[in-house]
Amino acid sequence: MANSVHFHDQRQQAAGISLREEALAGFAAKPKWISPKHFYDRRGSELFEQICQQPEYYPTRTEEAILAQAAGAIAEIAGHHASLVELGSGASRKVRLLLEAMHPASYLGIDISQDFLLASTTCLAGDYPWLEVHAACADFSQPMQLPDGFDGAHPLAFFPGSSIGNFTPAQAITFLGNLHNLLPRGGGLLIGVDLVKDRQVLEAAYNDKAGVTAAFNRNLLERIRQELDSDIDPQRFVHHAFFNERESRIEMHLISPQAQRVRIESEAFGFAAGESLHTENSYKYTAESFCDLAGAAGFKAIARWSDARQLFSVHYLERE
Ligand code: AVI
Repeated sequence: MANSVHFHDQRQQAAGISLREEALAGFAAKPKWISPKHFYDRRGSELFEQICQQPEYYPTRTEEAILAQAAGAIAEIAGHHASLVELGSGASRKVRLLLEAMHPASYLGIDISQDFLLASTTCLAGDYPWLEVHAACADFSQPMQLPDGFDGAHPLAFFPGSSIGNFTPAQAITFLGNLHNLLPRGGGLLIGVDLVKDRQVLEAAYNDKAGVTAAFNRNLLERIRQELDSDIDPQRFVHHAFFNERESRIEMHLISPQAQRVRIESEAFGFAAGESLHTENSYKYTAESFCDLAGAAGFKAIARWSDARQLFSVHYLERE
């Protein structure tokens, strides 16, 4: 019999998730902004998967290579009876490396994009018939609970991809604090962190030649056009990404080259020529600055692995 996925809809518990509310508030703000969590509708999730395959976007393949090497050691630390909880469950091959090394009894994928979550967890359930697979549709930037029926004994939480970098450092501490509440004392957190490095390498990763990151950025406006009552034209905005060294972050913006007015529902918003809509920050850490941040949220550093070029770092932390 096919292994089925236990689905848990936790979206009602998630506050602040609405694209409508955030677009109306963010377009009225100075400077204009919108949260990067709205990138991930089905199309946005597909575009993100394509970004991960671009030659300039080093984080995905670097992290995967680190995990391939470290999976045995990670399983030793986590223990072979642990359950695995993946935050931001995608079509990722990374979690498969852990499943194969750890052989956990149960897996829980948590993601905001329901279609994508169901597609990826259904694949896992098919490929690993011995695994009990759970899927929770939730906004993990908000407080979380393990769903009823999921055996979360000895959990290892897995947060790959350097998604922690999409929070501000203060938000990252809040998020890690939420994870601290989710995990029992001694529970593990395996987390991928993108390291500070040469500006050219960083900027190339967010300005791929094929224009996939630009399409991903503009897709946010496409969502507003399709899902809200709006006359916004994504083609009238230009992708702009650069490294802000003082803040240690890549910033992504959509620039309006010409003055224009856009309408969302009954509200009109003016863009001056050259004005930006700030869509994402991607913070870069040193291994030390990240351990300090995790320590502030009650996590102790246990082990760390990185690549020879020191592009990316995978940290094993323990909840104190
Ligand atoms: C999901 N997150 C870690 C990606 C990043 O690198 O900050 C999102 C992304 N934005 C543009 N390219 C990739």
